[in-house]
This record gives sequence, C-alpha cells and structure tokens, in this order.
Amino acid sequence: MNTDSHRKELLRKLSRNLMVSVPVMTVVAMAGMSAVSENGLGLIPSAEAAQGEAEGEAKGEAEGEAKGEAEGEAEGEGEAEGEGEAEGTSEAMKEAVQRPEGYEPYDGDTESLARKGEALFSDTSLSSNGLSCATCHTNGAGYADTFSKEYPHFVAMGKSDFGMDKVHLDEMVQICMVAPMAAEPLEWDSEELAALTEYMRIEQEKFQKR
Ligand code: HEC
Repeated sequence: MNTDSHRKELLRKLSRNLMVSVPVMTVVAMAGMSAVSENGLGLIPSAEAAQGEAEGEAKGEAEGEAKGEAEGEAEGEGEAEGEGEAEGTSEAMKEAVQRPEGYEPYDGDTESLARKGEALFSDTSLSSNGLSCATCHTNGAGYADTFSKEYPHFVAMGKSDFGMDKVHLDEMVQICMVAPMAAEPLEWDSEELAALTEYMRIEQEKFQKR
C-alpha cells in the first residue's frame, strides 16, 4: 500500500516527466488523433526522453510527430538513454495505476454510475492541464484498435509509459488520468472511478460497433 508521502513523491516525479508528454498529446489530439490507430502509438515520448533531452528538443519532436514524421524516433531515442533510471521510474508509474491488492471497486447502481461517468467525461476539473477525457475522446476519437478488445488486454501506452503488459479498464482510466490528464489517479474505491469505468464500458460497446 502507498503511504501518502510516497504517493506525493511519485506524483512529483510523474508530473516532471509529463511536462513533455502532455503538450505532445495535445498537439496530436488537435491533429485529430489520426496517428493513433496507424502505428499503435509512439506519440508519447517515454519518461526517459523527457529526462535525457532538453525540452526544446522534445518540442521539436512533437511538431515532427504532428506532421506525421519522425514517429518511431521518440521511442527509439528514449530507449537509448538513461535506462537504469527509467526502470525505477516506470516501476513507480506502474504502481500509481495498477489495481492495488485487495481492491474492491465502488459498488453502485449501474445506470446512475453511467450518468455520473458521462458528466465526469467532460469535466476539465479532473485534470491539471485543462483537458477532459472528451478533449481527446469525443465520439469515439483517440482510441487505438485495442479498445475494441475485451479487458484486460495490451495497450501501447500502458506498456511504453507504465511497463504494463495488460491493463484492465479501470486501470486504463487511471492511466489516462495520470498521463494525458496530468492528474493524480482517482481513489480506487471512489464512485468517480467506478462511474468513469462504467461509462467507458458503454463507450467501448459503441466503439466495437463502429
Ligand atoms: C490528451 C489526450 C487524452 C486525454 C485527455 C485522455 N486520453 Fe484516453 N487515450 C489517449 C490516447 C492517445 C489513447 C490511446 C493509447 C494507446 O492505445 O496506447 C487513449 C486510450 C484510452 C482508452 C482505451 C485504451 C485501450 O486501447 O483499451 C480508454 C478507455 C481511455 N483512453 C480513457 C480515457 C479517460 C477515461 C480519460 C479521462 C479521464 C481519457 N482517456 C483522457 C489520449 C487521451
């Protein structure tokens, strides 16, 4: 279990790494997220890239990516640098978004959870950067093809940024909370997490029928 100070330290680390990945993702979001399903990702420079490279350089990469260039670059470069440190960071990242031991999700009425989840989906106050889930995911946008698979499954961002081989849907909500939304993960037993997870389940059904 995480102590509070452990969590604070972890989140401090995360937000430092995310200073780079968030602008990149925003650029991609604006570009219509068309890159996502094509290459299974590569749009989030990994934590190591943030540490190894000057920020100016990372911005250059973001621009290149938005234009559909240099897509493999961010990843390749990240891997070449600072691997020792990266491992520790990714372990901490994983801990923030992985189901805790003895996890018992909030148990509520499915319909009211779905309604609350829908409202939270467009709530920018969940993030620290002015984004809401809807900024990237309105009308089924912004998902890779993996979203149509039954959970738990492999998600590129889960692997590249959090070192997870498979993610559950509630873990995916936490991943997007921590990475693109640059926020703390939601409390595991909170109604908010249950609500967003239920709403995403409905979004997934729509996505599967596309
Ligand atoms: C800045 C853009 C951005 C924001 C904001 C964002 N996401 Fe995502 N989300 C992504 C990207 C990019 C992917 C694709 C990741 C991948 O496939 O590796 C994704 C994928 C997902 C997936 C599907 C993963 C799969 O393939 O199974 C879910 C579910 C999801 N996001 C939920 C959310 C929720 C809930 C929020 C709000 C709390 C949110 N996202 C906010 C960018 C964003």
